[in-house]
Amino acid sequence: MVLADFSVNSGAVFTEAIGNDRLDLLTDYPFTRLANLLAPITPRANVAPILLTVGEPQHTPPTIIEETLRASASGWNKYPPVGGTPEFRAAAGDWLTRRYGLPAGLLHADSSVLPLSGTREALFMLALLAVPTQKAGRQPAVLMPNPFYAPYEGAAVMAGAEPVFLSATRETGFLPDLDALTPELLERTALFYLCTPANPQGAAATPAYLAKAIGLARQYGFVLAVDECYAEIWLDAPPVGALQVAASLPHEDGKPWANLLVFHSLSKRSSAAGLRSGFVAGDPALIGRFSRLRSYGCAGMPLPILAASTALWRDEAHVEENRAAYRAKFAAAEAELGGRYGYYRPAGGFFLWLEVGNGEEAAKRLWAEGAVRVLPGAYLSRSNPGEPNPGDAFIRVALVQDTDTVAQACASIVRILG
Ligand SMILES: Cc1ncc(COP(=O)(O)O)c(C=O)c1O
Repeated sequence: MVLADFSVNSGAVFTEAIGNDRLDLLTDYPFTRLANLLAPITPRANVAPILLTVGEPQHTPPTIIEETLRASASGWNKYPPVGGTPEFRAAAGDWLTRRYGLPAGLLHADSSVLPLSGTREALFMLALLAVPTQKAGRQPAVLMPNPFYAPYEGAAVMAGAEPVFLSATRETGFLPDLDALTPELLERTALFYLCTPANPQGAAATPAYLAKAIGLARQYGFVLAVDECYAEIWLDAPPVGALQVAASLPHEDGKPWANLLVFHSLSKRSSAAGLRSGFVAGDPALIGRFSRLRSYGCAGMPLPILAASTALWRDEAHVEENRAAYRAKFAAAEAELGGRYGYYRPAGGFFLWLEVGNGEEAAKRLWAEGAVRVLPGAYLSRSNPGEPNPGDAFIRVALVQDTDTVAQACASIVRILG
């Protein structure tokens, strides 16, 4: 028997290469890299550390969760069905219809919605669903923005596809330039991950942009996965969604969502990252196949969590409170940072994407001199041959703490980075 010696916290250190060598194509996860970067540094300042790295809202979760979990505790001893409950699917479907102004009855929740124990696992598993052995006679490509949410790359690589990193810089409006995609690439594209509002830059795709992406997916026969995890964290106007745009496009009879899947989560909307609750919605043919795949490899969402999630998708009051809290935090950040580091007010999400020269050096200095922990932008992006890494000059700052803490952290950023 071959024994692997590895430590989850310090990154995988294998005494012998065993198993799936595709894993070696991946770097350590961004937060493992950050832990390694900052481990040798002891913050000089005698102050409590301020953690602005993980996108984990520190707001008090809504009381609905506790109440519903208690009321549905009898469900803990049951294996939940992969498709969840009709009540959950209806709540998610009704929310999508309300939020995106979908024509009544267009979205059939029972065939177009699946619950997910957090969207991360499903965004990852999606590649197993979408990537064939070959596409157009070649290795399939999985497209993703650059920078990107790390599981997209992990999914592409582990499914045997080539991850293709599409620069999303200030020059391209912080979203991939769809006009730059060549037919040669699109023909072998199996899956395209889009994130809107984008993590980390907060850019939101326009209806025209989403219409173009949906059109390409249909023309070239790939899955368009739109990660709308930050859809409910917005400052001025609700970002449009991909289903909303798809509903307005000409489509084959009865197939408004062809090739399209959207992912929604309660982690940010309801400050409930620990609940592990989200859903995927869209093309019933893909949802059906996803359901089959998930029957083999997923833990269904426990019945009490389905009940709590149902109640959360039906409630907007706590979401409005949440948005008000983020508005106050962005106002505080803007007051401290406005005019520096390319600060801008994002369309959505709760990240600052600050241009600081060298993101890794800035992260080290902020930790050493101010006990402020942020993520170097380069840990969220990759270099394409001959091009600079689009994240190198940036840090990502997650506004997940309370307003005073955010203001204090931003003041430290200015004091330390100048
Ligand atoms: C862009 C993006 N998508 C998806 C997720 C996953 O969220 P969850 O698994 O909590 O639903 C995150 C979490 O940080 C994210 O930033």
